Amino acid sequence: MAKHRVAPMAAEDIPAVLEIESKSNPAPWSENSFRSELTNSQAHYLVAKVGERIVGFCGCWDVIDEVHVTNIAVDPEFRRHGIGRSLMENMLADAKSRGMRCSTLEVRSGNLGAIALYEQLGYSRCAIRKAYYPNNREDAVVMWLYNLQDQT
Ligand SMILES: CC(C)(COP(=O)(O)OP(=O)(O)OC[C@H]1O[C@@H](n2cnc3c(N)ncnc32)[C@H](O)[C@@H]1OP(=O)(O)O)[C@@H](O)C(=O)NCCC(=O)NCCS
Repeated sequence: MAKHRVAPMAAEDIPAVLEIESKSNPAPWSENSFRSELTNSQAHYLVAKVGERIVGFCGCWDVIDEVHVTNIAVDPEFRRHGIGRSLMENMLADAKSRGMRCSTLEVRSGNLGAIALYEQLGYSRCAIRKAYYPNNREDAVVMWLYNLQDQT
């Protein structure tokens, strides 16, 4: 695994986060989206850093006792070094300590790498939302992890 640390996302991290987002998401979030997430009391965002460089981020919303994963991306130069998994594990551990019971997310059906990551973490494929993504009408796979409190 690449030597990195995980920390809460801060407003000054947003320019680096936007750069990773633009290289990672076919429909990238705007600066305003990230700024408003940082002031949303339901939202929790983390960054991964190698030295002082931000190399990845992820975020979620608490919805009653469900953790809805909203976004995750790792800088293409730093992929396949365990950083995405570490971000998700940190986010789920924090959510568990807040008393959250389960987690859900949507992922593009063609995003086999992300689906493999989520399956490694214990998520299962539960439903398909047809033509969910407006930019190319790709289907979304809905995944759930039900037993968050039992995860080590
Ligand atoms: C999905 C993403 C966050 C994964 O980040 P990462 O740091 O490369 O992932 P990790 O190195 O922690 O991978 C953990 C495991 O996930 C699976 N995985 C990750 N990327 C994969 C890929 N491209 N192909 C196949 N399996 C993959 C593997 O099982 C991997 O374990 P291994 O490397 O020991 O085989 C990253 O590819 C990314 O930023 N993609 C673009 C944005 C995106 O698709 N976000 C998800 C939106 S739902």
